[in-house]
Amino acid sequence: MAKPMLKSSEDTVAEAAPKPRATVTAVEMGARQREISVSEFFTKNRHLLGFDNPRKALLTCVKEAVDNALDACEEAGILPEVEVKLEVASDEKTPPAPSQATRFRVTVIDYGPGIVRQQIPKIFAKLLYGSKFHRLRMSRGQQGIGISAAGMYAQLTTGKPVQIISRTSAKSPAHYFEVQIDTKKNEPRIFENKQIEWESHRGTQVTLEIDGRYQKGRASVDEYLEQVAIANPHVKLVYHTPDGETKEYPRTIQELPPQPREIKPHPYGIEFGIMLRMLHDTKSHTVAGFLSSDFSRVSPAVAQQICKTAKLSPDAKPRNVHGAPAEALYKAIQATKIMAPPSNCISPIGEKAILHGLYKQIKGEFYTAVTRPPAVYRGNPFVIEAGLAYGNAPGQAADPEHPKAPLAEGESHDEDEELARVIRYANRVPLLYQQSACATFKAVLETSWRNYGVAQSRGALPAGPMFVFVHMASVWVPFTSESKEAIADYDEIRKEIKLALQECGRRLGVFLRRREHAKSEFRRRNIFELYIEEVVEACNRLKGGKLPKEKLKQQLQKIALKRTGGEKVDALLGKKKSPEGLPDSIIVTPEGVEGDAPALPGDERSEAAPAVEAPPAQEALIDVELSKAPKALKGKAAPKKGPRAKRSGKKNPAKVNAAAAKQMSLGFDKAGAKKKKKK
Ligand SMILES: Nc1ncnc2c1ncn2[C@@H]1O[C@H](COP(=O)(O)OP(=O)(O)O)[C@@H](O)[C@H]1O
Ligand SMILES: [Mg+2]
Repeated sequence: MAKPMLKSSEDTVAEAAPKPRATVTAVEMGARQREISVSEFFTKNRHLLGFDNPRKALLTCVKEAVDNALDACEEAGILPEVEVKLEVASDEKTPPAPSQATRFRVTVIDYGPGIVRQQIPKIFAKLLYGSKFHRLRMSRGQQGIGISAAGMYAQLTTGKPVQIISRTSAKSPAHYFEVQIDTKKNEPRIFENKQIEWESHRGTQVTLEIDGRYQKGRASVDEYLEQVAIANPHVKLVYHTPDGETKEYPRTIQELPPQPREIKPHPYGIEFGIMLRMLHDTKSHTVAGFLSSDFSRVSPAVAQQICKTAKLSPDAKPRNVHGAPAEALYKAIQATKIMAPPSNCISPIGEKAILHGLYKQIKGEFYTAVTRPPAVYRGNPFVIEAGLAYGNAPGQAADPEHPKAPLAEGESHDEDEELARVIRYANRVPLLYQQSACATFKAVLETSWRNYGVAQSRGALPAGPMFVFVHMASVWVPFTSESKEAIADYDEIRKEIKLALQECGRRLGVFLRRREHAKSEFRRRNIFELYIEEVVEACNRLKGGKLPKEKLKQQLQKIALKRTGGEKVDALLGKKKSPEGLPDSIIVTPEGVEGDAPALPGDERSEAAPAVEAPPAQEALIDVELSKAPKALKGKAAPKKGPRAKRSGKKNPAKVNAAAAKQMSLGFDKAGAKKKKKK
């Protein structure tokens, strides 16, 4: 049969083109058509996984291993402690300097739950293998590609296998493995598998040898770890740099964030094809049972109602529903009113913790943070959080490493070329690449910062010494690619980000206006004081020299002080030094526009205020139905109008902050961490 057909097709070709070029027949093409394994695909397309250049590859390897370590510890209920070690790998006697080196050994150790022996090869040497893909629960990893892709990159660039040590308890032995991927089959090849002695009682150590480049600055491993520390104050991080330095990021919250719960998919977010597959795979025997047990927020009553709308028997067998009835069922689901998904599957960082993280890692004068109520995109619940750190650190002007003029005198604002920096997070993981493709960045650009007293050119970032923090927490973060660098631009997501940024902006505006007002009051007071001397002298002359001059002077000075905003002005302007010699830091909490650095449970460094017993409101899982989500944050902080120092009467004036004095952290461009020092 095939032959004549083939012949006729050849004839047609010959007729159409008198001078035939070398052509390929369907049979020949067919002979070449074969399956492509995921590993082969990603070997060729490694840029999709974040391995496009050596510098980024180094970061991606660290990131995948650290993300896994943190996920594993949190899921097992263990306070995470992670050690990252970067070493130059070289066969030469004198290894090159880290900045010149092209090959590195990356080691990441956690003291988490460990991995059972049988799973180790598959986890580290099989793409698309993991525990997180098939469930809807907030976690850093989701695709099951991360660490195995890093291993594949190592194999591709240096030919070295991934080395793993893992131990699940003090009673069981530690196992050592060396594995690589068989890219044709996407299956692990085991080179070494033995029991070893390991000092650690529990945990996992991964070592990868890769082609990479080490360079500090933007989007570096150093920056990534600094940003991890900001958004994860419950994590202890130790980082051994290739230069031989050890940076330590101590834990400042001694409690794990609440465990996010796993949820079932919400019917509104499901695509038709997925529903068909679910109908086929379900364990339920009836359609009504399927609806109420495989989806979230579908009660038996709602299931009956959906069946009625779809004109389908509730007792029909799910497997028999396809074609037109399935379509009717899908439409009926969309037409039925169903409660929004529960949000206890998300564990946001929380305002206090963000404030604390920003305050610890970034020097500035003003900090604020906002956690939005949960919202939904495509049936997936999510929470947006935003934060701001504004201003130059007191004394930074004198720092030779920061020759930039301080923003002390109001007018320097507009001339300042420096643009704000956006730090982005998804499920507590810093995103360092593809900023302009990210919904968070677009939302920052779209926010009218001028309304809040911050300069901004059209279509540009706001200007000024400012860090903008944005976090999206969700059961499924819609990344624009597998390398998880940017959040896709869903309208619902962008709207939420903007609302959070606007609230932060409003609070910043209050702070800036108030400071401006304080400055003008201070100038006024200086003028009064010049005249007081004269006035006292004149009065004394009128009274024939019998006036108690000192008393009058004091009284007049008191009036001048009172009329020009009192001591609060001094405090706002940082004129009054704290005992430790640091001018005041002003920190804004949701409760008002003034406040201390938040005291967090177990924070040994903030001894001033009584510790808050538990991470407050939003750290506790937000367990409200979305439809009834609290609007609590709105307007609470921003005064109605004309913010004056006077308004703050009830609350603490921006007061000397003991914790501020202890603040050891530096700006981002400097090392953000405390150098290791034994106390
Ligand atoms: N350090 C670790 N400790 C315990 N389990 C781990 C560790 N690293 C990886 N795993 C397990 O291996 C799986 C695969 O990891 P990975 O390839 O990074 O994919 P993903 O994190 O997206 O699930 C994870 O889902 C987790 O179950
Ligand atoms: Mg992972």
